[in-house]
This record gives sequence, structure tokens and C-alpha cells, in this order.
Amino acid sequence: PLVSMRQLLDHAAENGYGIPAFNVNNLEQVQAIMAAASELDAPVIMQASAGARKYAGETFLQHLIQAAVDSYPHVPVVMHQDHGQSPAVCIQAMRLGFSSVMMDGSLEADGKTIASYDYNVAVTKDVVRMAHAIGVTVEGELGCLGSLETMKGDKEDGHGTDATMTHDQLLTDPEQAADFVKQTQLDALAIAIGTSHGAYKFTRKPTGDILAIERIKEINRRIPNTHLVMHGSSSVPQDLLEEIRKYGGDMKETYGVPVEEIQTAIKYGVRKINIDTDIRLAMTAAIRKFFVEHPGKFDPREYLKPAMQAAKAICKQRYEQFGCAGQA
Ligand code: G3H
Ligand code: 13P
Ligand code: NA
Ligand code: ZN
Repeated sequence: PLVSMRQLLDHAAENGYGIPAFNVNNLEQVQAIMAAASELDAPVIMQASAGARKYAGETFLQHLIQAAVDSYPHVPVVMHQDHGQSPAVCIQAMRLGFSSVMMDGSLEADGKTIASYDYNVAVTKDVVRMAHAIGVTVEGELGCLGSLETMKGDKEDGHGTDATMTHDQLLTDPEQAADFVKQTQLDALAIAIGTSHGAYKFTRKPTGDILAIERIKEINRRIPNTHLVMHGSSSVPQDLLEEIRKYGGDMKETYGVPVEEIQTAIKYGVRKINIDTDIRLAMTAAIRKFFVEHPGKFDPREYLKPAMQAAKAICKQRYEQFGCAGQA
């Protein structure tokens, strides 16, 4: 059934595990996630990003997720709207039946400019007031995703930063997080600890100076009743990069968030772990391999099937690794 995100995250907190929140854009990704969760008895969070809404349209995404709920009646599913850039985007999602929304007020409505703290409080509070009236869960974000390195380099996150900014200023301040929760009353808070969206997060395996896992402890100590969310949490597996290169892809050296760092983060209070890129890499590696091995094939079902299976395998790994298997 469709369930509330608050309910799932409360259960995860009580039992000390984390739930991967997978981004979905098409049928095969929805099928992969559901097959993985069903086999492992895991709860599901599927989320639609701004890019997904642009690609597939909100109505298609909503119906795909609803089809998943109908096909797997025993699996609890959250339909979450990821990175809403304005209260209007969140209202539209709620109207379509999303059971959870993210109001990302860390950036202004253009999705690029770093917003003021007061703006973030105002828009988040506004969404919380409306959402809670109809039982919808709200996630907010405080701090800026992306390292100084990735932000200066105009990466997928796209927002610019001025030269005077330091790495620490982008990260979530525990004191401010406490005030943010008090003022907005949100359910879940996305924190910035040095991760960024996309495949190019780190140019080396991250250490404490660029990935601030220890900071989570301090944030959680101030806001123990707010569920912490980690964005940009793909691990960018080296074997998938190698597979992509082997079959004609051109991806440069890059590192993601190691699974063991996420496991530590879960110990420190992270409950929702956003993953998109790892599924993209898995599907691309499988499709590239298929095309090289079967140059004569042209039926999309034939190459989308191994892509779906590769996505499912990654989802199963994350469910196991985050302690989420058997929790549905
Ligand atoms: O928001 C996080 C997603 O990984 C970005 O995805 O390119 O579909 O907007 P998008
Ligand atoms: P990745 O790009 O690391 O998969 O992050 C996805 C994300 O944070 C979606 O909100
Ligand atoms: Na989100
Ligand atoms: Zn994100």
C-alpha cells in the first residue's frame, strides 16, 4: 500500500536502519526497485526529481508508482517528490497524491542561487503547514549540497559560489539545524556534509576532510526527533565504471560515497539515503554490454531487461547494506 514517509522513517529510527530512496524516471526503474524490495521484504521510497518530472511528466510518474503499489500490495511504498523548488511544486505533487514532499529552500526558486536562511525557513514552514493538514510528510534541506570543488566547477548541482566561501560554510550547521526544526516543524532534514549529486563527487576516495560524516553525530544530538536525510549518496561503484569503459563508454576517474561511510551515517542517525546515479550507471553498463555483444538486436525489451536486472541488483545490495531487508 501507499504509506506515509513519516511512518517508515519512524520505524527505521526505532530499529536503527536506513532506507534507500531511489529516484525513478521510467517503467524499468520502478520495476527494478519493486522486484528488489519484494524479494527482500523491504519498504520502498520512490522519488521524482525535477528532471524526472520534466522527462516523464508528473502524471506518468504518479501512475507508474501507483501501478507498482497495485502490483505489489504487500510492499509499503512512499511516493515522494524530490527537490521541490517552490511551495507551488509541492502543492501540485500533493494534489496528485504524493505522500511526501521535499521543499528544498536551500536554493531560491531558480534552483541555482543559494537562498537566505530566512527564505528557507519561510517556504519550508509554509509547505509544512499545508502538508501536515492532509497527512503528508515534509523533507527540507539546510546547507548546500556539493563541495567547493564541484560547485566552482559548475557540476550537475549547478549553483555558483563566490570565492570567499569555505568548505565548512556549505555544510549544515548543527546549531542552525536546531533552530530550523523548531521554526518549521518539518519531519525530515536533508543535511549537507560534502556530498553532491551525480557521478563526479570526489576526485579521490573521500576522507574526513571532504566528507564530514562525524558532523552527523552533532546534528543528530541537537535534533534527535527529526529524521536525517543524505542526498548525493551514490557509491559510484568502480566495477560499473570499468564495465562502462570496457564497452565503449568514456567516463573519467571519480569516486562516490563509500557504502561503509553510509553505514556509519546510519549509526549516527541518517534514515533516508538518496540514490539515483548508481542505478543510472548499472543500467548504462548493462545496455552498453548488450549492444556490444548483440549488434544485431533492436528490440528495446531485449536490452532493457538486462538493464532492469542490473538496477535490481544494485537496489538489493543497498537494501541489505542499509539494514533495510526484512523490515517491511
Ligand atoms: O535530485 C537528484 C537527482 O539525482 C537529479 O536528477 O537530473 O533527474 O533532476 P535529475
Ligand atoms: P546521487 O546522484 O548520488 O545518486 O544522489 C541522488 C539524490 O540525492 C537525489 O535527490
Ligand atoms: Na528528497
Ligand atoms: Zn538530492
